[in-house]
Amino acid sequence: MISLDLSHAKLNEDVASWQEKVNEVDASLQNGTCTGNDFIGWLHWDENYDKEEFARILETAKRIQENSDVLVVCGIGGSYLGPRAAIEMVNGLYPADQKVEVIYTGNTFSSTYINQVMEYIKDKRVTVNVISKSGTTTETAIAFRILEQFMWDKYGEEAKSRIIATTDKARGTLKNLADTKGYETFVIPDDIGGRFSVITPVGLLPIAVAGISIEDLMKGLNEGMKEYGMADLNQNPAYAYAVARRILQNQGYDVEMFVEYEPQMQKVAEWWKQLFGESEGKDGLGILPDSAVFSTDLHSLGQFIQDGKKVLFETNLYVDQPPVDIPFPSDEANMDNMNYLAGKNVDWVNKMAAQGTLEAHEVTGNVPNIVLTMPGMTSYDFGNMCAFFFKAIAMTTLLNGSNPFNQPGVEVYKKNMFKLLGKE
Ligand code: PA5
Repeated sequence: MISLDLSHAKLNEDVASWQEKVNEVDASLQNGTCTGNDFIGWLHWDENYDKEEFARILETAKRIQENSDVLVVCGIGGSYLGPRAAIEMVNGLYPADQKVEVIYTGNTFSSTYINQVMEYIKDKRVTVNVISKSGTTTETAIAFRILEQFMWDKYGEEAKSRIIATTDKARGTLKNLADTKGYETFVIPDDIGGRFSVITPVGLLPIAVAGISIEDLMKGLNEGMKEYGMADLNQNPAYAYAVARRILQNQGYDVEMFVEYEPQMQKVAEWWKQLFGESEGKDGLGILPDSAVFSTDLHSLGQFIQDGKKVLFETNLYVDQPPVDIPFPSDEANMDNMNYLAGKNVDWVNKMAAQGTLEAHEVTGNVPNIVLTMPGMTSYDFGNMCAFFFKAIAMTTLLNGSNPFNQPGVEVYKKNMFKLLGKE
């Protein structure tokens, strides 16, 4: 379970005084009358997910592990950030024992990047998982056409079993294409939006291919939905966090910096930024989600946070037990004068850095700090964290009176771009 500490958050209101509003919003979410209620499938997905499809994901992942060196995930936004966040968080940035490397395309128009991916995979055993709910996203469609032609050239008929489409259950260009060409498909449920979809086949297939237990992930999600299931702000840290954000917004803070002390959680921050930015940034409201990995970024952004304009508050996501800890060795010559740390563990140093930074930013820098602590970095923890942030963003956005589940603003650039590209 993720714990919450608001004692450094400099709130000028008592979180508990929001209880009545929270009760109302929670009731509207639970009984399905909230705004955006056609996209709340994630709320009971931990119980309602398709068990047969889940078994098929496990079988498909096993097959890919046996016949592929690389899984190319072709998708953008909610159709790739979640699996990438989970895989990097759990397996790390240089995973020595991950059988199949997972790489990403379909998330950019950069010809240089797309070509680099094609060069990288050309002599490897490849499976492609194209992921798109709408089936028409242009970044994804461009990369997929190139990939698909490559797969047919390389494998002929075998390409059919090496291309997998995760898309809408019945409609859409990609579903049509996959059925016509005989590719296996997995379903993105109608009532779960992209940024909530890591708990569906969108995330589960790539995560399973990376050798990570999706059973544990779903267990973490299920427990999380119970742990963050109550309306009571004293018992639900996700809702208390949601309220703290609203109070800080009312105090004039426009930016939330999501801070981690584990580099392999950087993509979790990217996933969180989409979840929070796309859900809340509308109707002229919302807190801009930003992120940093400390202590790395203390050597770049640290100056601004400490002494710059007071626009931001920090939300720290600490990890209680990292997967690995290492002792710092002693050195007889001690020419670097580092022996004062000899025999200490490096994670202890990381935690002391976090403590010192919290004090520097909060006390000297006058920056509000929210502290979240998760127990570890396992797939169970990832699933549990999804429940925490899903519940938090739904509550905090509904408290703003906005619809957490749409993203009308994303369409504007597409309209302009299509005009320039000459699309009918
Ligand atoms: O959250 C969202 O809905 C978006 O970020 C989408 O996931 C993203 O635009 C990709 O869309 P699609 O899955 O339809 O290709």
